[in-house]
Amino acid sequence: MEAAPPSSAAVLHKGFRLPYFFTIMALILFMTILYSEDSRAYLRMPWATKKKGEKLAFAVGEADSSCDVLSGRWVWDDHRPLYEEAECPFLYSPMVCQLYGRTDTDYQHWRWQPNTCSLPSFNASLMLETLRGKRMMFVGDSLNLAQFYSMICLVQKIIPSNAKSITRKFNGLLRVFRAKDFNATIEYYWAPFLLDSNSDNPTAYKIGKSGKLLRKDSISTHGDHWKGADIMVFSTYLWWMTGPKIKILQGGTFDDENKDIAEVATEEAYRMAMKNLVWWVNKNMDPIKTRVFFTSMSPVHKNAVEWGGDEKGNCYNQTMIGDEKGNYWKPTDCDKNVMKVIGEEFRKSRYPITFLNITHMSSYRKDAHTSIFKRQWFPLTPENLANPVTYADCIHWCLPGLPDTWNELLFAKLFYP
Ligand SMILES: *[C@@H]1O[C@H](CO)[C@@H](O)[C@H](O)[C@H]1NC(C)=O
Ligand SMILES: *[C@@H]1O[C@H](CO)[C@@H](O)[C@H](O)[C@H]1NC(C)=O
Ligand SMILES: *[C@@H]1O[C@H](CO)[C@@H](O)[C@H](O)[C@H]1NC(C)=O
Ligand SMILES: *[C@@H]1O[C@H](CO)[C@@H](O)[C@H](O)[C@H]1NC(C)=O
Repeated sequence: MEAAPPSSAAVLHKGFRLPYFFTIMALILFMTILYSEDSRAYLRMPWATKKKGEKLAFAVGEADSSCDVLSGRWVWDDHRPLYEEAECPFLYSPMVCQLYGRTDTDYQHWRWQPNTCSLPSFNASLMLETLRGKRMMFVGDSLNLAQFYSMICLVQKIIPSNAKSITRKFNGLLRVFRAKDFNATIEYYWAPFLLDSNSDNPTAYKIGKSGKLLRKDSISTHGDHWKGADIMVFSTYLWWMTGPKIKILQGGTFDDENKDIAEVATEEAYRMAMKNLVWWVNKNMDPIKTRVFFTSMSPVHKNAVEWGGDEKGNCYNQTMIGDEKGNYWKPTDCDKNVMKVIGEEFRKSRYPITFLNITHMSSYRKDAHTSIFKRQWFPLTPENLANPVTYADCIHWCLPGLPDTWNELLFAKLFYP
């Protein structure tokens, strides 16, 4: 006779007890979560329902939930710009377009008007009072640098000239604007990929034989310098867009003789960076006391056919905004995939990262680029001079100008989330 499985009774017995076991385990898990250091972060898991009246850090009011601030249009405003170029002593090439010969000023006068509400007016004293004893930090590439300078220009006029300054640290990687009387800083950290890369030197983009190289899971290399910031604004996009693949160093250092390098699809490499970012934010930022933003991709107007313009044209000599019939820059599939990656990874974050979706509103602004009105680092050739389209900068933006609106959106999401 076959022996009955010896445990049949025990199985029955265990089956009977199993619910208790799970209840107790669940209770232990719940208590661990509740009392762990991270508990407040857990309470902000995306699936946790936001309690009524619960506030994000720095909120002074609530957004009109029926209004989508991203659906809107650019309207002419006589009360713009919010500051004059010459009024903001911290600006330099490539932002000071007027200083470098731009004579039209229409691009400074447009205001973003959502369809069913208005963005709150930027209030410099509210911004600085909020930053009293605190640090705001922008991290990313040169587009984020423009948002940083825009923020400084927006707040600096209420600070007397002997109580504000900019200094540099860590070989120029970090710029610190200090408002002395507020004990506040607004900082910018250059990390075009957020990750450690061989193109991170802010003054000499030395790349070397192996080409542009990022190091896998290396966000802490730069991230260690971001710790302690109260408001963070990240952005990274353009540096990734150099081809379908990107080289990733799997370990070791960029100087190693024999490097273990993998070529990865750009989208997957970007996903790795976003996962790193979400990990860093959850590890280092307190969701009760701090806020984190991510500015979406800034459009490039290199190709005038995209808005129904001349086949050989770009942003050069563009003084009008794109019209609403669709004659403006549109994201490529690659751009869209990257945007999707951001959304997918941020949704997994316990810490609520606020996405500043500036892409669509900026796509109308072919008029607002630096174009040829900047300091030229290399001597222009006769061909360049004969055809300025060849050296127009259709990536960066003039200040005052479009990045001020990015900060108005930031202001709205910070104080009226
Ligand atoms: C950004 O905003 C535009 C316009 O509202 C929208 O079409 C697009 O889907 C948004 N992108 C993301 C990633 O949310
Ligand atoms: C700007 O903010 C300050 C400080 O919070 C406040 O006293 C002032 O009323 C605000 N100004 C406007 C125009 O809302
Ligand atoms: C100044 O701000 C820093 C944070 O940036 C803070 O650690 C420090 O305690 C503040 N000092 C004073 C005197 O408030
Ligand atoms: C700039 O554009 C205007 C039309 O908007 C055109 O008349 C003019 O010739 C253009 N200038 C140059 C230098 O291309």
